[in-house]
Amino acid sequence: MKRRSVLLGVTGSIAAYKAAELARELSRHGVEVRVMMTPAATRFVSPLTFEALLASPVVTDMFDSGPAGPIPHVSLAADADVVLIAPATADCIARIVHGLADDIISCTAMASECPLIVAPAMHENMYRSAATQANIAVLQERGAVVVGPDSGDLASGGRGAGRMSPVETIIGVTMKTLGRHSDLAGRTIIVTAGGTQEFIDPVRCITNRSSGKMGYAIAEASRDRGASVVLVTAPASLTPPSGIEVVRITSAQEMFEATQTAVQHAQALIMAAAVADYRPTGLSPHKIKKQGQEMLTIQLAPTIDILGSIQGSFVKVGFAAESTELECNAEAKLTAKNLDLIVANDITATDAGFGSESNRVIIIDRQGTFDRTPLLSKREVADRILDRVVQLLS
Ligand code: CTP
Repeated sequence: MKRRSVLLGVTGSIAAYKAAELARELSRHGVEVRVMMTPAATRFVSPLTFEALLASPVVTDMFDSGPAGPIPHVSLAADADVVLIAPATADCIARIVHGLADDIISCTAMASECPLIVAPAMHENMYRSAATQANIAVLQERGAVVVGPDSGDLASGGRGAGRMSPVETIIGVTMKTLGRHSDLAGRTIIVTAGGTQEFIDPVRCITNRSSGKMGYAIAEASRDRGASVVLVTAPASLTPPSGIEVVRITSAQEMFEATQTAVQHAQALIMAAAVADYRPTGLSPHKIKKQGQEMLTIQLAPTIDILGSIQGSFVKVGFAAESTELECNAEAKLTAKNLDLIVANDITATDAGFGSESNRVIIIDRQGTFDRTPLLSKREVADRILDRVVQLLS
């Protein structure tokens, strides 16, 4: 499959140094990144920085007959799946809006037919000026995606709007835009992740070892394949992927309510969360004090079975993390919870599962087909699961 390609245009703003990180992160997401820079941008960051990070030449001159060919703006435009200008100065935005094609970036942006994403970065007064506001409005009317800018400390010393959006935000928008024509475009997928917490008193809770990594990987992969994603997450020490809706919950009951609401307009529910099966019957309003050597008994009541309770016309995928009789237990859960697929993993494996970066799973369907994966990254496992969801949706 051809790697998706982003043509990154870097213009002359102090935020140009962040474009190096952006280019590297996009490349880490499996995207082919080509870079073009205006002469002003090269005064902030050297083209060599991008060339070293990406092992690919940077185009700075529209008359450069280098590897991009004798007419670089046409060949670069034809090869790109997305043109991303980050940072985009007021001048660059104005040039594109008014058709002033006399530098490599404005020229290529105008020659391309693929989606255009623009991340403005400039002083607040320039951003708020009537000219820039009007130009940005025109860009949006013409279908461009404008990301940010954010508010905060500005290079000039003041505070205000004008900072380029964080790299993760721009990555999220770019990956979602690249997914516009992928196999989950137009679909809404609900993903749950992490280990729920059931509080005993204000400082103590019952939880489990789930890191949330598998669910977060499924959410990211769904976004990259064009889906609108709602991630219902229990507390986790991970940053959720950008470009998705995140609903933070704590207990099993809260996860049930958030998931039931989110799934109303969804085509698939993937429950990767490790949900507590029991909760303390009463929450102590004060910290429970130690009482010598006496035994302490905490009474537990069952929580709601979320997957078992939520029914509807969407694809339902569960997980079965088992330490014994993996296949048999997983099949029983597939039937009991009325699932389309169950993803079984053996939690006794030392190289996969809880907290690990990788996983080895068996995807079981209603027909009793067992699809066994080798040890893969959680992102690769996520894509295998989504391949099956796509089949079920079509
Ligand atoms: N699950 C759920 N609600 C619960 C418990 C689990 O929706 N209260 C979901 C999990 O997110 C997972 C699937 O059900 O997708 C199986 O979870 P698991 O903990 O393996 O199974 P349980 O049904 O809790 O059974 P047991 O703990 O006895 O193995």
